[in-house]
Amino acid sequence: MTTNRRTFAIISHPDAGKTTLTEKLLLQGGAIHLAGEVKARGQARRARSDWMKIEQQRGISVTSSVMTFEKDGIIFNLLDTPGHEDFSEDTYRTLTAVDSAIMVIDAAKGIEPQTLKLFEVCRLRSVPIITFVNKVDREGRECFEILDEVADKLALDVCPMSWPVGMGGEFEGIYEFASGRLTQPSGGSKEYEGKHSLHDGLDAESLTAHLSERGLAKFRENAELAQMGYAEFDLEAYRNGDLTPVYFGSALKEFGIEEMIGAIAAIAPPPRPQPSDQGEILPGAKDVTGFIFKVQANMDPMHRDRIAFMRLCSGTFKRGMKLIPSGHGKPVAIHSPILFFAQDREIADSAEPGDIIGIPNHGTLRVGDTLSEKNQLRFTGLPNFAPEILRRVVLKDPTKTKQLRKALDDLSEEGVIQVFYPEIGAQWIVGVVGQLQLDVLISRLEAEYKVEAVLEPSPYDTARWLIGGDDKIRAFMDINSALMAKDRDGVPVFLAKSAWDVGYQQEKHPDLKFSATKER
Ligand code: G4P
Repeated sequence: MTTNRRTFAIISHPDAGKTTLTEKLLLQGGAIHLAGEVKARGQARRARSDWMKIEQQRGISVTSSVMTFEKDGIIFNLLDTPGHEDFSEDTYRTLTAVDSAIMVIDAAKGIEPQTLKLFEVCRLRSVPIITFVNKVDREGRECFEILDEVADKLALDVCPMSWPVGMGGEFEGIYEFASGRLTQPSGGSKEYEGKHSLHDGLDAESLTAHLSERGLAKFRENAELAQMGYAEFDLEAYRNGDLTPVYFGSALKEFGIEEMIGAIAAIAPPPRPQPSDQGEILPGAKDVTGFIFKVQANMDPMHRDRIAFMRLCSGTFKRGMKLIPSGHGKPVAIHSPILFFAQDREIADSAEPGDIIGIPNHGTLRVGDTLSEKNQLRFTGLPNFAPEILRRVVLKDPTKTKQLRKALDDLSEEGVIQVFYPEIGAQWIVGVVGQLQLDVLISRLEAEYKVEAVLEPSPYDTARWLIGGDDKIRAFMDINSALMAKDRDGVPVFLAKSAWDVGYQQEKHPDLKFSATKER
């Protein structure tokens, strides 16, 4: 049964509350049983990063990559999109493996840069988005201001699904429009501990018994305005990625969590058809197919094993099954796949479309590979993303050029970094979207290829793939050879000194496309 899967990610800027929301979703979903673990957050976080350090020393850290829980017959697969210093191309690519996303916004800050970047990746694939405006227990911005910002900056219709009664010190609860359900704080900590009541619309007399006179009057006025001023909920517009339903809440105080799980269950799409070179592959198709969206490598040189994360797109996967990776065509028997139930890892016996399977391997599986029973197709739409950090690679021992080239080719194929070979000069450029990727690069060069190198600043700020007719590209390259390079596949890349530079060239050359993504 594929309709009971919901595979989604949470996108946000650091500190908006993604971790807290994740924990509360898992708690509500029954995946974390120890409330104490959540309460002692600071400590738990330290414990968790220690655990990750140990996992890293031992090799592979997969604990938080995929979190699966089941509630009311629905199986939720929550994919982590690493942020902060772990921000990397994996963060972007994970979004190619989900069917929908929750966008968490800090009520005081609105749309922040990382949210915007991740949103743009969602838009590339029309991934539908539910918005969660977090931290209403604190003084924030006016709700209207936040909604307008989402609408303007993201060019989306917004539809408020709930509305807070006051914010910060005046916070009295959250009202959900469709159900007429009012959830309220109780106890000393002012958390949501189950106190709720049902009302028959905003005018219901019954609300007076639950809210202060002043709070209710203001709430009624604003909530009515909100209902009139924004789009009505339209399932199709949401699923096409044109409209975002907006929920208000406080992850910390557990407001809006039930509504969020309810919304994912009720409106978020089940596994969607996936684009391939043979047309769209429906999740109900019989043959097993999937694609690799992430490879987690071992940091320990003694262990060369890796975990490849496959999103299952069609068919029922059974343990021991042989699948053919599109990369080299030799069947791989998958004897010990990993399914992810919250913090425990479980060996999977079977999996359905929408599920993620971890496949241990020795480097045979690469990001972007399609796996299928008969090697009959290739999934498309798994792009490379323009790097935001570009560095020159300088060898400590110049006689090791050959080894370095091999290493850079391998690691870029695996998706750890991107590599650019300039048309002029011999200094190779590596590109990443997050700092951590550079650290991984240096340590793997040393451990696996015995190459010592340092990374130096480069004069470039970003890179763009050139798309257009061959003569046009050739003509452009002739004039701009000092700024041209080829990527690993020999595709021409323009190395830009600034975002302004990209805009300038684009204006001068309207018949060329300076693309920030490249299909793999
Ligand atoms: P992130 O993963 O998006 O980076 O955010 P995270 O959940 O770690 O939350 C960032 C900070 O915001 C944390 O505080 C967290 O407790 C707080 N926070 C999250 N949700 C809410 C909310 O609904 N209301 C309020 N008032 N705060 C919220 P911290 O002090 O940085 O961390 P900690 O010491 O609490 O662990």
